[in-house]
Amino acid sequence: MNEIPPDGLQEQTFYEQVGGEETFRRLVRRFYQGVAEDPLLRPMYPEEDLGPAEERFALFLMQYWGGPNTYSRHRGHPRLRMRHAPFPVDSAAHDAWLKHMRVALDELGLAPEHEAQLWKYLTYAAASMINTAG
Ligand code: HEM
Repeated sequence: MNEIPPDGLQEQTFYEQVGGEETFRRLVRRFYQGVAEDPLLRPMYPEEDLGPAEERFALFLMQYWGGPNTYSRHRGHPRLRMRHAPFPVDSAAHDAWLKHMRVALDELGLAPEHEAQLWKYLTYAAASMINTAG
């Protein structure tokens, strides 16, 4: 017999718990609005149009948190440290990146435990991306 668990008893991914694609797209959209205005970060992005970078980042985060694996179908294994190697990520770039992310995350208005979990990941990941002294 096929037992279907009642609503609420099924495991939900973090992606689903925070509202799925829409939430991640809002986060990344707001983040890139900050990047677009940032005199240190904006010149690091090679493309004139930030749209494709925004799309890659949104798909990566969605996949990381349990959503569809569209990122890897398009881009392969993330290998983020390697992909950031062409860009000099020093402590100033790290701080600027996190500053825009903090604004974007605050505006999502997530439940405190979700917000804390996402922020912990983002701060850890940002620190691990530093590849240049100074
Ligand atoms: C610490 C400061 C950081 C700086 C200055 C930075 C900067 C950049 C730049 C300039 C690009 C290239 C834009 C593009 O054409 O896609 C990029 C790509 C990307 N970044 Fe970062 N980044 C930082 C941290 C992070 C972190 C913490 C994550 C993940 C949580 C991340 C995820 C990505 C992804 C997924 C891409 C696209 C990779 C691909 O080519 O598929 N970045 N980043």
